[in-house]
Amino acid sequence: MQELTWWQHGIIYEIYPRSFQDSDGDGIGDLNGILQRLDYLVQLGINAIWISPIYPSPMADFGYDVADYCGIDPIFGTMEDFDRLLAEAHRRGLKMILDFVPNHTSNQHPWFLESRSSRENPKRDWYLWRDKPNNWLSNFGGSGWEWDETTGQYYYHSFLKQQPDLNWRNPAVQAAMFDVLRFWLRRGVDGFRVDVMWLMIKDDQFRDNPPNPGYRLGQPSSHRLLPMYNSDRPEVHDLVARMRAVVDEFPQRVLIGEIYLPVEQLMSYYGRDLKGANLPFNFHLLQCAWTAEAVKQVISDYHTALPKGAWPNWVLGNHDNARIATRVGTSQAPVAAMLLFTLPGTLTMYYGEEIGMTNVPIPPERVQDPAEKNEPGLGLGRDPERTPMPWNGTPSAGFTTGRPWLPIGDHEAINVAALEHDPASMLQLYRNLINLRRSNLTLVSGALQSVTVEKNVLSYQRIDDKQRIVVLLNIGSAPETMTVERGTVLASTYLDRVGQEVIGSIDMRASEGLIICLKTLIRDVPPGSEGADMS
Ligand code: GLC
Ligand code: MG
Repeated sequence: MQELTWWQHGIIYEIYPRSFQDSDGDGIGDLNGILQRLDYLVQLGINAIWISPIYPSPMADFGYDVADYCGIDPIFGTMEDFDRLLAEAHRRGLKMILDFVPNHTSNQHPWFLESRSSRENPKRDWYLWRDKPNNWLSNFGGSGWEWDETTGQYYYHSFLKQQPDLNWRNPAVQAAMFDVLRFWLRRGVDGFRVDVMWLMIKDDQFRDNPPNPGYRLGQPSSHRLLPMYNSDRPEVHDLVARMRAVVDEFPQRVLIGEIYLPVEQLMSYYGRDLKGANLPFNFHLLQCAWTAEAVKQVISDYHTALPKGAWPNWVLGNHDNARIATRVGTSQAPVAAMLLFTLPGTLTMYYGEEIGMTNVPIPPERVQDPAEKNEPGLGLGRDPERTPMPWNGTPSAGFTTGRPWLPIGDHEAINVAALEHDPASMLQLYRNLINLRRSNLTLVSGALQSVTVEKNVLSYQRIDDKQRIVVLLNIGSAPETMTVERGTVLASTYLDRVGQEVIGSIDMRASEGLIICLKTLIRDVPPGSEGADMS
């Protein structure tokens, strides 16, 4: 088997820096806070951290409105703090991935200030200026076009009006942004997660989008139109390939794309000859119904569509979606974790999932997210999944000595200190599963086979020439008896049964997940009896 690179076998842990650990009492997490928690992350067993934007920003979209791509916002610390964090992460064997936000800058970025100063300014064409708006909408509600008084034109913004879109057709924009990548790669970062990769380039004729026949009241207003001309344009792939080439100027780095698209389109971001994104983020588990059938479908569709030679990846949570424990319920959250850690390829998890954090309800007067403020009441706010990490049971949870920027929620029972020494806790389950994956490459790169559903139990096998592992996930609230070949239990979501021998069948408890190492390898199975166990 080919030697795997770090980003292939590793587990990526997303840190939303405002909420991980505050070190200076301003109620907002920062780089020195992350530094204090590196040993915790090493103990958890993850291999890489991806940190959401830490660059100077007016924080209209909490860092996704960048005013300087090559600096650190004072809220998060200094460049010295950054360099120290990177060095300390590397010293512990952790990789560090930064967020790169190419589609738009802040309206306070010097490039935009210049661009809007006059129609003759050399940076005028760095953004998208038009005499008349077309019908394109902003993803945060309302028209995507903003009138600019000084120069008498409109500029386009896919998100807030404080986030004007760059014109990626302009070679000077490309060159400047690629130099930003080099700036951080030279400093030693291990790769990038690229924000809204599939939106980067728009139709050069600015054609109107067609209406969306599937739109229903209660959906985000941007869903009224199909984003035909302002998203997933054919020209984007050339840009991604160029970005990849820049990243490949440095050894052992990774390019990850944030892409919310149906599976077929998603796969095109691996690029021609796989020279696009190393990992186009696969968000399909975030969006599917939580039933054995639906999850089976997602897994089969993804693996059927995966291009030959492309490396798979799975994401269980991020800062834009409801927390997994809220989405599937607390009794199924361990099953979801077992699913994630037994799927092929690179895995991404979100801070706090390892302690079963749930969405925290935000009282109206404490709402921060513009997505909620712009279109209240539709449940679009992302604050609930961005709340501070509860490190202990004290009033401010060990997160800060000041007033946390978002409410911490009910953390008396669910916090790191409380779960740390409880051998039956979610944290322990995460550590065990991560450990198991690290010591069983079959779970990383073995073939995925026999994906089946019986009753409410989803099962599949992971196979290589050394091992055959079966995973059984009871995505139901009733016990089930399942037929299984002879084997040994490697893990249960109930954190017991390890080492138990299985002969013929096994009684599964409600919401139980099991990993079982089977006795016979495929090549040992006598001809004619393959699959007799599962199919
Ligand atoms: C991405 C980010 C999201 C942000 C948006 C605009 O989807 O993940 O948090 O609001 O881009 O930059
Ligand atoms: Mg702070």
